[in-house]
Amino acid sequence: MASSTDMLGMTDKVAIVWGGGYGMGERTSLRLAEAGAHVAVVDIVPERAEKIAEEIRASGRRAVALVCDVTVEESVVETLARAEEALGAVDVMATVIGLGVWGQLLDFTLDQWEEAHRINLTSFFLPARAVARSLIRNGKPGAIACVSSVSGLTSAPNHGGYGAAKAGMINLIRTMAAEWGPHGIRVNAAMPGSCATPRLDFGEAGLAKMKELLPLGRPATPDELAKAILFLLSDLASYVTGHNLWVDGGWNSTFLMQAGTGSMTNAR
Ligand SMILES: NC(=O)c1ccc[n+]([C@@H]2O[C@H](COP(=O)([O-])OP(=O)(O)OC[C@H]3O[C@@H](n4cnc5c(N)ncnc54)[C@H](O)[C@@H]3O)[C@@H](O)[C@H]2O)c1
Repeated sequence: MASSTDMLGMTDKVAIVWGGGYGMGERTSLRLAEAGAHVAVVDIVPERAEKIAEEIRASGRRAVALVCDVTVEESVVETLARAEEALGAVDVMATVIGLGVWGQLLDFTLDQWEEAHRINLTSFFLPARAVARSLIRNGKPGAIACVSSVSGLTSAPNHGGYGAAKAGMINLIRTMAAEWGPHGIRVNAAMPGSCATPRLDFGEAGLAKMKELLPLGRPATPDELAKAILFLLSDLASYVTGHNLWVDGGWNSTFLMQAGTGSMTNAR
């Protein structure tokens, strides 16, 4: 039952979080449940999905843990069907999956190139399309969110494969927003600069560099990304679609500093 203070409009909605068992995905699953949604937690690692689904059930919301490889279409379609069988037709989804595949382009193998696109772009396209088809079939409005990266806008040496895939994602949300908007489906991305997810170690030097260069002086926490995703999926963002939301601690405000021109003075 929705309360009058349900500003997020998430009470009793059915959510599916692909990559929802760990890091940012774990926090996204838990935030959606805290906001009142029932959650299908999908992950390629069964224990991760089960642990978070259990935590959600203990909090009084319904949840199901499902194992899936989001880069394989049959697996995605079957997993969505199982989620809907358990919890009802899906209203909102997030994909929180991606991995850096680093290397200089001169040395990059075709396998590395395809892997970068498979894990960073196909991993969004397949579940988003499956969920959009379900929403349209069921005549429901809905919202879809993914996690892009500043690498998709600016890139850097060694980021060729990852950056191109994330740029593809930033483009794709706009096409999806345009094609699916008439069905009441919104599509957006949250864009981190750096986020302290458990699998990453920035090292002391990396953290010191962030303290020096980032206005907020530190990487995001996984929960800060989850809150941005929750916002994009919620009624608070009911007129926001095709948008790539910077969640970067102000990194994008420091280009001139990084280029060494932030402290220029006039010669006379
Ligand atoms: N951490 C950062 O600094 C940073 C910066 C920019 C963008 N991002 C983006 O944030 C997103 C999440 O990053 P993270 O560090 O939380 O990821 P993570 O690797 O910690 O978590 C991803 C989850 O997805 C699951 N997963 C992996 N492959 C899967 C597959 N094929 N099918 C189903 N599940 C699969 C993993 O088991 C894991 O639970 C990614 O898109 C990443 O590119 C991260």
